[in-house]
Amino acid sequence: MSRILNFSAGPSTLPVPVLQKAAEEMVDYRGAGLSVMEMSHRSPVYQDIFDGAEAHLRELMQIPDNYKVLFLQGGASCQFAMVPMNLFSSSNKADFVNTGVWSKKAIAEAKRYGDINIVASSEDKNFSYIPKLDPSAFNSNADYFHITSNNTIYGTCFNELPDTGSVPIVADMSIVIIREDLIGNAMDITPTMLNYQTHADNGSMFNTPPCYSIYIAKLVFEWLKNLGGLEAIEKINREKAALLYDYIDESNAFSAPVVKEDRSLMNVPFILPSEELNAKFLKEASENGVVNLKGHRSVGGMRASIYNAMPKENVATLVDFMKKFEQANC
Ligand SMILES: Cc1ncc(COP(=O)(O)O)c(C=O)c1O
Repeated sequence: MSRILNFSAGPSTLPVPVLQKAAEEMVDYRGAGLSVMEMSHRSPVYQDIFDGAEAHLRELMQIPDNYKVLFLQGGASCQFAMVPMNLFSSSNKADFVNTGVWSKKAIAEAKRYGDINIVASSEDKNFSYIPKLDPSAFNSNADYFHITSNNTIYGTCFNELPDTGSVPIVADMSIVIIREDLIGNAMDITPTMLNYQTHADNGSMFNTPPCYSIYIAKLVFEWLKNLGGLEAIEKINREKAALLYDYIDESNAFSAPVVKEDRSLMNVPFILPSEELNAKFLKEASENGVVNLKGHRSVGGMRASIYNAMPKENVATLVDFMKKFEQANC
């Protein structure tokens, strides 16, 4: 077996044991005589998979009982519309922190349905930091307060949540986890498919859910539980990120554009002193099976995405490769 070291920001690397399990179960899922991809989402065998995924996630993240977990189609981009349509229920006002491309997309969509107040922005320095928040700029009547908790493109993250009092915080993440009392007050214009109530009332099965993705998520959650849960993976992730950031900080050639206190543990952007060196590094890395390191076009340079499934030894291999490149070229 030969696998590349895939540092893609998404879709991104999965744990090998998860891929192997999915492969084992692909043609005949546990004696059911068909694959998960071919099953009716209304069959008991699929419902078991679905319930398992939700139960594992609830246990891993200790999600309180008064929160619904919704597995929806449309990705995070669909949430840019669903959030305002469902949460604009009283003042039709929302506070936003502008930390980059994803915040801007969320703001542009929310503006179609209500009044947006941008409480802070880090645009002046190409979103290389998380702006300090001044609570006097917050609107205490806002229907919600929106943050992009991890900025995939710039490699920044909120290390603490703002204190917004009774205003609910919406964080742009991957799955909809929503407090029950925020469901059921959608704007009249909200299409049935975009109303959280529709999906909450139907156990995410109003229509066909993203069946195979939910199955893979379940396998990933099982893998995380076997590893020791969130505490264990956080420790590994901190070690992985330290390996990479520490080397970048001591290097005379590589540098990280993000201020130290706001660095993401998941997405690590870095640059070399010239465009020529960036291009040479990316080409040589790729020739050596270290791939998908090209940074987003708005930041340039490189970006290593080192999510949960990225093994520590692969980050060590990347760092070794960077050291050798620096010695040979800088
Ligand atoms: C923070 C953030 N928000 C939103 C999105 C858009 O996600 P999707 O492609 O699922 O619509 C992404 C994608 O990478 C993201 O990183």
